[in-house]
Amino acid sequence: MQKLIINGKKTLRGVIKVSGSKNATLPILAASILNSESLLKNVPLVKDTFTMVELLKSIGLKCAFTKKNQLKIFNNERNIKTVAPYKLVKTMRAGVLVLGPLVSKYQRAKVSLPGGCAIGTRPVDLHLFALKKLGAKIKIKNGYIYATATKGLKGNTIKFPSISVGATENAILSAVCAKGKTIIYNCAIEPEINNLIEFLRKMGSKINLKKRTITIEGNIYNKKISHKIIPDRIELGTYLIAGALTGKNLIIKNIQTNIIRKEIEILKKIGVKMKISKNSIQVTSSENLKKFNISTEPYPGFPTDLQAQIMILMTQAKGRSTMKEKIFENRYMHVPELRRMGAKIKIKNNVAYIDGPTPLSGAEVMATDLRASVSLVLAGLIADNRTSVNRIYHLDRGYQDIEKKLKACKADIKRL
Ligand code: UD1
Repeated sequence: MQKLIINGKKTLRGVIKVSGSKNATLPILAASILNSESLLKNVPLVKDTFTMVELLKSIGLKCAFTKKNQLKIFNNERNIKTVAPYKLVKTMRAGVLVLGPLVSKYQRAKVSLPGGCAIGTRPVDLHLFALKKLGAKIKIKNGYIYATATKGLKGNTIKFPSISVGATENAILSAVCAKGKTIIYNCAIEPEINNLIEFLRKMGSKINLKKRTITIEGNIYNKKISHKIIPDRIELGTYLIAGALTGKNLIIKNIQTNIIRKEIEILKKIGVKMKISKNSIQVTSSENLKKFNISTEPYPGFPTDLQAQIMILMTQAKGRSTMKEKIFENRYMHVPELRRMGAKIKIKNNVAYIDGPTPLSGAEVMATDLRASVSLVLAGLIADNRTSVNRIYHLDRGYQDIEKKLKACKADIKRL
């Protein structure tokens, strides 16, 4: 099993280029089932992308990387199997996103239930709620969702009782092929959803997003389209935090600053030095970070996917900082490992209290999900001595070339 070995306390300087967004790529790959020929640019070369490509191939699509980050997907409508098997969905929950496209286009789908994962139970009831509203009949049997719509889906009004990124995406992906108009209320409005909407508009769908309401009228038709994936705002946030911890004029490029306004506002407030331009940010660490309080929220609030990473910054801020995790019920698995590195963190219910500044010391650590793993890498960058981060297959699900990017900026990091 591979691990990362980090000798900490090195100053990061140089340039890091952010890859395309994993969380935008996955729903867009699911959407490509609806189209005949799609060319995707800026595709991140991470494990989750490859798993989704495997899933599309098993459905019957042809997928080929034509250049390093460019992926062509063809649906020639031959040998389509409307099935997403357990072995693929269990490693990546986003596999459930093929449910909407399959049932709306082919009137039937059999998709494995994703089950729970390390950060919580993560049900799919809201995905199924949306599909039922559009007329799909749903049965759950032997760990699979069976969805049928023998006469096709029909537009309707969907009012989500709570906000879900995946359920909003599945609802959109179902409604674009439904007959008539669909209005979806209380939607997630993450930038990745906007990127998906842009892709579907290129296919001819009429989609309008206003506040948290999305209006969709069918009219999707097969086209040859080309689409660029937006930069990964979570990867960007992660490297910004790395720079805030131990950077000297670290430049982060290939980005869009308009999709991380909240994160920039917080970093500025606590004293991180940044020079911001449209497509890059230069960041330098500060010795005098102020304590701060954060709650994770749906976009445009602070993302749960950066909670573990910014907690490392909290260990270095002066005084008691607090973190309230409001999206997932069990997203503090990095905390026991951080405590082993010397961090002073207490948890009560869903709130973490972090006392700082605390020097961290290297240790052998591991985490059971993607973002928790990367937070341990950040901790290793500022810890004294050697940190060994085990089980890094989680990291490879979402961070392209992490050790190469950090090494190019003078981090002492290697993969074993
Ligand atoms: C997506 C992101 C993930 C991010 C999360 C929250 C992708 C591929 N993944 O995951 O990185 O952490 O958004 O920003 O884009 N819920 C239900 N019923 C449902 C669906 C969700 O109760 O049917 C709950 C979840 O358990 C969770 C909350 O809603 O508590 C938000 O989850 P959701 O936004 O759906 O997350 P994902 O789409 O799975």
